Amino acid sequence: MNVMMNRRPDRPALLLVEDLHVAYGKAEVVHGASFSVGEGEFVVMLGRNGAGKSTILHAVSGLVPSRSGRVAFAGQDLGRATARTRVQAGIVPVLEGHRVFTSLTVEDNLLIGTYANHPRGDRSKLGRIYDLFPELAERRHLQASRLSGGQQQILAVGQGVIAEPRLLILDEPSGGLAPIVVDRILTVAHELCRAAMAVLLVEQLVEKALRHAHYGYLLETGRIAGEGTPVTLREGTLLERVYLGGHA
Ligand SMILES: Nc1ncnc2c1ncn2[C@@H]1O[C@H](COP(=O)(O)OP(=O)(O)OP(=O)(O)O)[C@@H](O)[C@H]1O
Ligand SMILES: [Mg+2]
Repeated sequence: MNVMMNRRPDRPALLLVEDLHVAYGKAEVVHGASFSVGEGEFVVMLGRNGAGKSTILHAVSGLVPSRSGRVAFAGQDLGRATARTRVQAGIVPVLEGHRVFTSLTVEDNLLIGTYANHPRGDRSKLGRIYDLFPELAERRHLQASRLSGGQQQILAVGQGVIAEPRLLILDEPSGGLAPIVVDRILTVAHELCRAAMAVLLVEQLVEKALRHAHYGYLLETGRIAGEGTPVTLREGTLLERVYLGGHA
């Protein structure tokens, strides 16, 4: 692995994935992926449609079983742990097409994000989320169905952040939303990284993602085809190859 200055090699990896294989039935779609996310690091996983990005995020979150390989988090082997145990350990996913509960208010949706550690919801965590997302504070008593698509996506991210993840997993937060919403989400996620949260992001908006990331991996049909800092990735021909399917 390249040792990059802003990879903080002095610190142990928060998430360490080694030789991960994931299959749906007999069809293996992730063929031995190895990657890591450091404490407080913002890492992006890039790759074309169907490359296996969401599958990797699901496997790390414990939502699909891995066939083999190692998933270690904060030094603990979580490869066979349930999704709930992983949330309690600090791995919180906000997955593609994540839907909030539209019949509930914004505030009740946020409280759901605290349930893993607090069966009746922890109101003391709301203030921080409202500071981070004033658009949610203004609408706290509105039914989520009355929010725009962008606001609902911000609510979904808020629901993840309120759980106080050590690693926030974001699968295509852009989801066809206005670029300004995507910028807003990535900017907040980036700021949170300074407060010791790490981010593992999958995003089709490559340039936006690289603007916020410390490090990136390129996934090509279930294999890591390359990795590096945003500067390195932009300079090389790999991005082009991975996205256009040409040959370097
Ligand atoms: N539940 C499933 N059952 C069977 N095959 C699946 C399932 N989910 C995904 N696949 C297949 O696994 C491969 C990887 O899919 P995955 O959704 O992980 O890719 P992705 O990189 O997230 O793509 P996209 O950019 O379109 O979101 C694809 O060939 C897909 O068709
Ligand atoms: Mg996907």
